[in-house]
Amino acid sequence: MSVRRLASEQPSSFAFTPENLAWAQKQLLKFPEGKQASAVIPILWRVQEQEGWVSEPSIRWVGEFLDMPFIRVLEIATFYTMFLLAPVGKKAHIQVCGTTPCMIRGAGRLLNVCRERIHHDPFHISANGDLSWEEVECLGACVNAPMVQIVPDTYEDLTVESFNKLIDDIEAGVPLKPGPQIARHYSAPETGFRVLTTESLYDGSMIGQGAGLAAARDAIAARAAAEAEAAKAAAEAAKAAADPAPAEAPAAPAVKAQAEADKEKVPNIAPQNVPASDPAVRPDAGKKE
Ligand code: FES
Repeated sequence: MSVRRLASEQPSSFAFTPENLAWAQKQLLKFPEGKQASAVIPILWRVQEQEGWVSEPSIRWVGEFLDMPFIRVLEIATFYTMFLLAPVGKKAHIQVCGTTPCMIRGAGRLLNVCRERIHHDPFHISANGDLSWEEVECLGACVNAPMVQIVPDTYEDLTVESFNKLIDDIEAGVPLKPGPQIARHYSAPETGFRVLTTESLYDGSMIGQGAGLAAARDAIAARAAAEAEAAKAAAEAAKAAADPAPAEAPAAPAVKAQAEADKEKVPNIAPQNVPASDPAVRPDAGKKE
């Protein structure tokens, strides 16, 4: 694990070159008044590009330049492993990820290569002055573990053989290829794509056609209709279960017989809305005695 401390030997002062100072002043204009501290990381990065590492005087300088307390800049410089806190190898400082996924995939063997080829201990520069190394925590490329970082790039899917070749190329000044050191495309599956393999997804033929959108809309509408139908059926079933239609009680035979008998006894009462003089009511109405 990496211990992030300032180097024991420090220069007496720091200053940007005129070009870098002009660049830094321009960065401040990108932020609203009072928010200039947001430029701290790019300015620390420019310090490192100029000096090769970030010294204690440079951290103080950045704090004064951005009107930030020294401790705030120190926290940032010591937190991010991309900032190198001590002089490093002239050609490369190799940061080997030693967190679990990389360790499971062989980071321990990469660390042994560093011990054998660069120096037994981290933060020590090789005999020829070209290289140095350290172990760091996860650098966010676990999917391609094991990996190393040589700022500003990462080198992934390493084996002992490919890592040795990487070091050979650094020593020889051969341009490096960042990213996976196998045939993998970025973080795509090592064995090739198994989904989204339709050629038309990538040849531009679907751009502007809206075919995908139309298909998605149709699928959404079909699903909404099916859900509405299912909800309606469920509501009807629930209603039927909660409120069954009352069954007509069958009349007992004795009650039915009594009702028939009562009908016989009902007198033939004249309708109330018919006048008594109506012949239908008084057949003798209108006859003279
Ligand atoms: S564990 Fe090594 S990059 Fe994440």
